[in-house]
Amino acid sequence: MARHLITSAIPYINGIKHLGNLVGSQLPADLFARYQRARGNEVLFLCATDEHGTPAELAAAKAGQPVAEYCAEMHAVQSGIAEGFRLSFDHFGRSSSPQNHRLTQHFAGVLADRGLIREVSETQMYSPTDGRFLPDRYIEGTCPNCGFEDARGDQCDNCTKQLDPVDLINPRSVISGATDLEMRETKHLYLRQSTMKDQLEEWIDTREGWPVLTTSIAKKWLNDGDGLQDRGITRDLDWGIPVRKGDQDWPGMEGKVFYVWFDAPIEYIACAQEWVDADKGDDWERWWRTDKGAEDVTYTQFMGKDNVPFHTLSFPATILGSGEPWKLVDYIKSFNYLNYDGGQFSTSRGRGVFMDQALEILPADYWRWWLLSHAPESSDSEFTWENFQASVNKDLADVLGNFASRVTKFCRSKFGETVPAGGLPGDREAALVTALTGKLREYETHMQTIEVRKAAAALRAAWVLGNEYLQDAAPWTTFKTDPEQAAMQIRLALNMIRLYAVISSPFIPDASAQLLAAIRSGDDSWPEDVPAALSLLPEGHAFDVPDVTFRKIADEERAGWQEKFAGRRT
Ligand code: MF3
Ligand code: ZN
Repeated sequence: MARHLITSAIPYINGIKHLGNLVGSQLPADLFARYQRARGNEVLFLCATDEHGTPAELAAAKAGQPVAEYCAEMHAVQSGIAEGFRLSFDHFGRSSSPQNHRLTQHFAGVLADRGLIREVSETQMYSPTDGRFLPDRYIEGTCPNCGFEDARGDQCDNCTKQLDPVDLINPRSVISGATDLEMRETKHLYLRQSTMKDQLEEWIDTREGWPVLTTSIAKKWLNDGDGLQDRGITRDLDWGIPVRKGDQDWPGMEGKVFYVWFDAPIEYIACAQEWVDADKGDDWERWWRTDKGAEDVTYTQFMGKDNVPFHTLSFPATILGSGEPWKLVDYIKSFNYLNYDGGQFSTSRGRGVFMDQALEILPADYWRWWLLSHAPESSDSEFTWENFQASVNKDLADVLGNFASRVTKFCRSKFGETVPAGGLPGDREAALVTALTGKLREYETHMQTIEVRKAAAALRAAWVLGNEYLQDAAPWTTFKTDPEQAAMQIRLALNMIRLYAVISSPFIPDASAQLLAAIRSGDDSWPEDVPAALSLLPEGHAFDVPDVTFRKIADEERAGWQEKFAGRRT
C-alpha cells in the first residue's frame, strides 16, 4: 500500500473563494486524494485557511471586526463550503493555530542558528497620512517588469513577478490612496536564500517528470536578473506570528510578525499536528519526518501558477535550510487560470461565480465535473454558461445519467427489480469488455500522473462505451425474439452501473454514492479485473431504479444565471 501526503494551497481567509480558486488547487487535490483512496492507498489530505498578513487585516477592517474574530468566522464559513463541495480533507486547519506559531518560530530559530538569517536595517514605506508603515499589500503601483498599473507590493498579478514595494513605479497607499509616501528606517529579518541557490537548483533539476509550468517558473526565479534574492520574512504588522527565535525573544524584533508567506507553507506541517491534536490521527511524524517513516511517503502539492515560486523555492529553502529531516515535496502540480465569461474571475472586483453561490444553484457534482473536465492545465481556460450547460446536459445527463436510468427502468419493466440470469455473453460483450478495459487503464494512467482533463475524457469515453453497447445490443428489440439474450445484456449493463459508480467517484462522489445505493452494492472495490467486476452482481440481486442522477439545464435557466452573474458581487 502506497502512502500519499497531499496538500492543497491554503486559501486566504479573506472571503469566499471563486470557482477559479477552487479548480486551481483544492478540487484537483481532492480528485487525486479520492482516487488514491479508491485504489486502496493510504492518504493524508490536508488544507487550511491562510489567515495572516494584510489580506486578513484589510478584510477584517472592512467587515468592522477584530481580525481574530473575523478569521474564526470565515474559517467556519470556508469549512462549510468545502464540505458542500465534498472536499475530503482529513483536516482543514488554520495557519493561525498554536501549532503553526510554535513550528514557524522553531524554523526561524533553527535557520538563524545555521547562519541563514540576517538582520537588515532598511528603509520602508511609511505613510504619514495613514500614520503607519505600509506593508507590501497596502501599496500598489506600476509593475517595473511589465508595466501593469495595479501591481501589488508583493507580486504582480499580471506577470507573476515577486516584487518589493520599493520596486513599484508611482506607489500609492491602498488604505487612503495617499501618494506622499516616505521612506523610514526599520529592522527586518532576511532568509539568505541566495546562499542556497545551487542546492535549490540541483534539487529542481533532479525532479523527474515535473510539469513544465512548475519547473519553468522555478528556473525563471532562480536565474532571472541577479538570480535568487534573499527574502524578507518579517513585517511591521500586529496580526501574525510574533517574531521569536524558537521559544526565545528576538532582540530588536519586538512588535513584529513573520511574513505570511513564511508561515503559510509551514502550516502544511502544523496542519498534520492539528489533525493529531483533534484526535483524527495519531502520528503526524510518519508523514512529515524522514527519520520517522516519511521516507516512503509520496508528497504531492496542488496550486495555482502564482504560488509556484513559493513552493519550488521559498518553502524548500526553509526546509533544506533547517538541516532537519523534513519531507520535501515529490511532485508539484500547478494550474493556469480559469477565466470567467470573457474576463478574469476576481475576488476584489466580485466578478464571477463564488463557491457559495454555485452550491445554491446546483449540487456539487455538476460543478466538480465541469471544472475538472475543463481544468486549466496546459493553458488558461474559460468558464461560459453555454459550455457549462452543454457539458452537464451531454456528459452527465445524456451519457451517464441516461445509461443508469434506461437500464434500470427497462429491467424493472421486463424482468423486475432484480438482476436477471440470462444466457452466455457473446462477441459483442467480449469486445465491450476489451474496450472498457483499455479505457479504464488509460484513465488510471492519467489519474496517476494527474492529467486531469485527460482523465475526465477517458472516464467520459468509458461511459460512452456503455451507451454505444446498449444502442447496438438494443435489448428492447432483442427481448421480443430472444428474452434470454436480452436478460444477459441487461445483467451486464446493471453491472456496468456499479463499475461506473466506482470509477467515477473521484469526480462525482455524490452521484456515485447514489448509484451504488440504487444498485444496492456495498462493494466499491476498484475494478482491477474488468470481467470479474462485470459479473459481480449475481442473479436475483435486488436493486432500485435511481432518482434522476443528473437533471438537464434548460435554456431559460441558463440565461437567467448568465444575467444574474453578469454584474459584480456586493
Ligand atoms: N493563500 C495563498 C493563495 O491563495 C496560498 C498559500 S499556499 C501556502 O494564493 F503554501 F502558503 F500554504
Ligand atoms: Zn508585471
